Amino acid sequence: METPSVRDVARRAKVSLGTVSNVLNRPELVRPHTRARVLQAIEDLGFVRNESARSLRSGGSRLIAYLMLDQTNPFFADLGRGMEDVARRHGLGLILCSSDHDAAREDDYLSMLVEQRIHGLLITAVNYDNPRLALMSRHRVPVVFVDGPGDRTDRCTVSVDDVEGGDLAASHLVEQGHRKIAFVGGPTSIPQVADRLQGARNGLAAAGLDPDALVVMGTDELNVAEGRRAGARLLGMPARRRPTAAFCANDLLALGLLQEMTLRGVTLPAEMSIVGYDDIDFAAAAAIPLTSVRQPRRLLGSTAAELLIDEAQTGDDHRHRHIQFPPELIVRASTQARGARLRARTG
Ligand code: RIB
Repeated sequence: METPSVRDVARRAKVSLGTVSNVLNRPELVRPHTRARVLQAIEDLGFVRNESARSLRSGGSRLIAYLMLDQTNPFFADLGRGMEDVARRHGLGLILCSSDHDAAREDDYLSMLVEQRIHGLLITAVNYDNPRLALMSRHRVPVVFVDGPGDRTDRCTVSVDDVEGGDLAASHLVEQGHRKIAFVGGPTSIPQVADRLQGARNGLAAAGLDPDALVVMGTDELNVAEGRRAGARLLGMPARRRPTAAFCANDLLALGLLQEMTLRGVTLPAEMSIVGYDDIDFAAAAAIPLTSVRQPRRLLGSTAAELLIDEAQTGDDHRHRHIQFPPELIVRASTQARGARLRARTG
């Protein structure tokens, strides 16, 4: 059975093609009883507009896309939620895609999205220098970098100061008396991870500690399983060399480390204090609520979407902006001053 066309709708409703087009795109121009007749014909025939054909004719889709790094990480879902709130306010839809930290998969998505003439692209990229991003800009498709490098001149960026965030985490642990701290995270080819590590180093240096006070434990990915593996590695270290605290590059790693320590009978936080990063909802909900460096996730997403839509609307008059939010340390039960532990033993 052929799909009904606009012409079929016009014939059934006994109106012109232009009237059907107005009902679909500018219903306020059509008298109510005519509009009702056309809508009834659409329903009777089961007509669905061809959005891709419409967007080609009008030169503009009503869809924006967010190409994220990892769909299994709630951090990115929260960003997407902020983006969607703004998109809906502007009568737009949001497509979510995930590169899963894979550059080739990211390139495949970019290739598809360029052809779709989307309204704009928000991206937390594996490769911020993928030439398809420049191609999109040449085709006047706005592209905004979210949670990535903020020092670009060629497009808007929205991020958090991750160097400051790493410093907050490490300084918090030093202030609590920890003198041997693990940094759990990687690969450092991810700019966010590299910045958090640098911030942690800055924090320890500012406290006058030697660089070897920070034990860097690289991971292949930033997920719960890698956090558990890091926990096993930490517990495999001789007790005298083992760090008494760990700063993890994101909450999923921290939750995995916390789970491994708990399963192996380690007393948290007395024997191991843990700090995460992002402050996803699971951080506060953990069996031992997780201290974490909060990123304003929905605000990151909504701010990026507003910049994107502004660029799509203002075109050449748009001026690129670089918005960076401050991180915030949220202290919970997974960290404790070492002095408190000594009291616990003598209590
Ligand atoms: O994708 C890894 C991490 O980078 C996320 O957890 C979030 O912190 C992002 O900035």
